[in-house]
Amino acid sequence: MGNWKMNHTIEEAIDFCEKVKEEGLVRTGKSRGVLLGVAPSFLSLQQVKRHSHGLIVAAQDCHYEDHGAYTSSVSIPMLEEVGVNWSIIGHSERRTYDNETSFVCNRKIKALVEHNFHVVYCVGETLKEYEAGLTKDIVKEQILTGLMNVTKDTISKVVIAYEPVWSIGTGKNASVEIAEDICRYIRSLIEGMFGKVAAGKILILYGGSVKPNNIREYISQEDVDGALVGGASLKSDSFKELLVNCL
Ligand code: 13P
Repeated sequence: MGNWKMNHTIEEAIDFCEKVKEEGLVRTGKSRGVLLGVAPSFLSLQQVKRHSHGLIVAAQDCHYEDHGAYTSSVSIPMLEEVGVNWSIIGHSERRTYDNETSFVCNRKIKALVEHNFHVVYCVGETLKEYEAGLTKDIVKEQILTGLMNVTKDTISKVVIAYEPVWSIGTGKNASVEIAEDICRYIRSLIEGMFGKVAAGKILILYGGSVKPNNIREYISQEDVDGALVGGASLKSDSFKELLVNCL
């Protein structure tokens, strides 16, 4: 899944979708069991959905209330109205710039699954936490709090993305050993909360400086099921290379 963050005007986003369609990337992916998605800005969602041709289209965030006095926020029914039923939650940039806590993420995740949405829940430690050896403690808190009171029935709607903050946009990607170790740990936490079956089925993505030349190493790991990609997902050529290198 490409997370476009604050990139691409509507026009650029449509252009990307048309190129993906011309190249038949969604069909190629599906034939090999690879799902492809993008998370555009709120403003582009409606048009990207119209031109998605099978691409998963996710919001980058949403509010937990259906409506109300929350200036600048976008609600789940607003996303539903434009045909979107996926949302990223808890991205580290929202945790950092908007003080989003795992508790707030939990409210959003519960609201989303009640609306039958799919969620990509992001977790990951900062550089300081990594250097202090706190990665697993941080990830544990984010998972336990973020998924509190999510039911065994609805956990199937949740995808987890492990994104070490120090690897996002820095080119300092986590080693495949670190990615696998933490993704495996996340799966064990899911097993503790929701049981073996749910843990076996849940999709866990790695994110942080994933590029066409390193994606294969990550997804070859047993507990890494896919990737959440920022910079390298913006151009359709690079997006295509990401896919091709997964096949
Ligand atoms: P980069 O791939 O640009 O490092 O961004 C990762 C990310 O934050 C995806 O959500």
